[in-house]
Formats: sequence, structure tokens, C-alpha cells
Amino acid sequence: MSNKSIDYDRVSKVYDNVRVGDPEMVYQILQGINLTRKSLVLDVGCGTGNNTLLFSEATPARIIGLDISFGMLEKAHEKTKRVPMVQSPADVLPFSTETFHFVFMTEVIHHLPSPQIAIEEIFRVLRSEGSLCIVTQSHKQIDGRITSRFFPASANVDKERYPDIDVIEEIMSRTEFIKVSHKEYQFKPITLGEEYLQTVENRGYSMLHKISREAYEQGLQDLRAAFAGGEELIYSAGYTFVWASKE
Ligand SMILES: C[S@@+](CC[C@H](N)C(=O)[O-])C[C@H]1O[C@@H](n2cnc3c(N)ncnc32)[C@H](O)[C@@H]1O
Repeated sequence: MSNKSIDYDRVSKVYDNVRVGDPEMVYQILQGINLTRKSLVLDVGCGTGNNTLLFSEATPARIIGLDISFGMLEKAHEKTKRVPMVQSPADVLPFSTETFHFVFMTEVIHHLPSPQIAIEEIFRVLRSEGSLCIVTQSHKQIDGRITSRFFPASANVDKERYPDIDVIEEIMSRTEFIKVSHKEYQFKPITLGEEYLQTVENRGYSMLHKISREAYEQGLQDLRAAFAGGEELIYSAGYTFVWASKE
């Protein structure tokens, strides 16, 4: 396993305990594009399909989900039989050149062995005038996560895994994408319940697999104490949408 890879077949069993689709985020993405029933859309790294499903319900376009993990796709398939799902890594997309009108990728870029190769592949499968939206977190947004408070080492690990926004934009521009730009999006604050603690206990967040046992145990102890003390824990970081188009 490379430093960036996580066993998502294992994570798929607990992923949906704390990760849900974000209708507002999907709505915001849709503001940036114009899709019709003839449009073909690809969700790269669709995971358990939470956002894929919201997307398919919010637009008349046809959407395909793609993920490297069979376990994640199995969960997605349990939710819908209407959206085709394909198992593949992002750096060799099993589609013809100039197939899609729109490609999006939410919370995936930090897992890719080479963001550059995946972005080049996406460029290849996009049609002329097609768009790409990469949803990720900037380094500033990583620092703002609640998990960074309890597991500060996880913020450092993630800042190494996540290419920062200027790096993504640089790759896009080098790949001959045009109209490269980004926009920040703030999550609606959510009060975290016991499921958050359970997910942390199961190391359901990928970055918790990347910190030392001591750092994990210390953070877990502090988190349990915060819950036991009745502290209200609010999850309110944000995403950045990095947009680009093909001429
Ligand atoms: C944090 S999850 C995000 C899932 C989904 N996009 C969402 O927003 O809920 C990351 C996903 O990326 C997938 N993934 C990791 N490496 C990949 C790769 N090289 N190619 C395609 N998918 C990959 C994982 O299997 C996992 O489902």
C-alpha cells in the first residue's frame, strides 16, 4: 500500500455512519454548469454513492459512478440500481476519449497516487467545452476540522496528502485546461453525536490510519472526555471547489 492508499473495502463497512451526501454542495456544483438529459456525467471516486445519488436526483443528466473499491461500490449499489457503477482506478479511466460533459470528484484527490495522471485522464475523457470540478479541502480548511483539534498529527499528515489548491490549479493549467478557478464552500455546522465517537473508535476516517498509535490513543481519550463532559462538538469546516474547462 502506498502512503496515500487506504483499505476502503474495510472502511466501506462504517463509512456511512458519519458521511452523508451534501445536497447543498451538490446544488452549489450544479450552479456552475448547464446539464441536459443528453449530458453524460462521471463521478470519479464515488464511494458509497451518497453524492452520486443526490446528483442523479438533482439533474436530468445521466451519471456514472466510478471507484477503485469494490466494497464502496457494493454499498452504493445497495442504494440504487439506476446509476451504473464501474470499478476502476482514476488514472486509467475505462472510457473513450471525449465521452463526458462533466466530471466531478469529491474528497478523492488526496488518495490518488498521481493527481496529475488522473487529471490528464479526466481531460482525455471530457468532451470539448466539458468541465471538471474537484471538491477538496485547502490546507487552511484542514486546520479548521474538529478532527484536527483532537488529532493534531492528522492535520499534518493530511496537509502532506492533500495537494493544496494552487498545486491542483497548476496541474490543471499544465494539462491545458482553461478557466481554472476555485471557490470556497462552507459546510452547514452539524452537532456531532455518538456516531462520530464510534467512527473514530473504528478509525473510520482515513487520516486516523496514518498517525501513530500514541497520537491516536491520546486524541481518543480527549474526545471521550469531551463527550463525557457534555461538550457540544460542532463540525463546520469547508470544501474548496476547483473548476476547470476543456476548450
Ligand atoms: C473519502 S472517499 C469519497 C467518496 C465520495 N466521493 C464521497 O464524497 O462520499 C474517497 C473514495 O476515493 C476512492 N479512491 C481512492 N483511490 C482511488 C483511485 N485511485 N481511483 C478511484 N477511486 C479511488 C476510495 O475507494 C473512496 O471511495
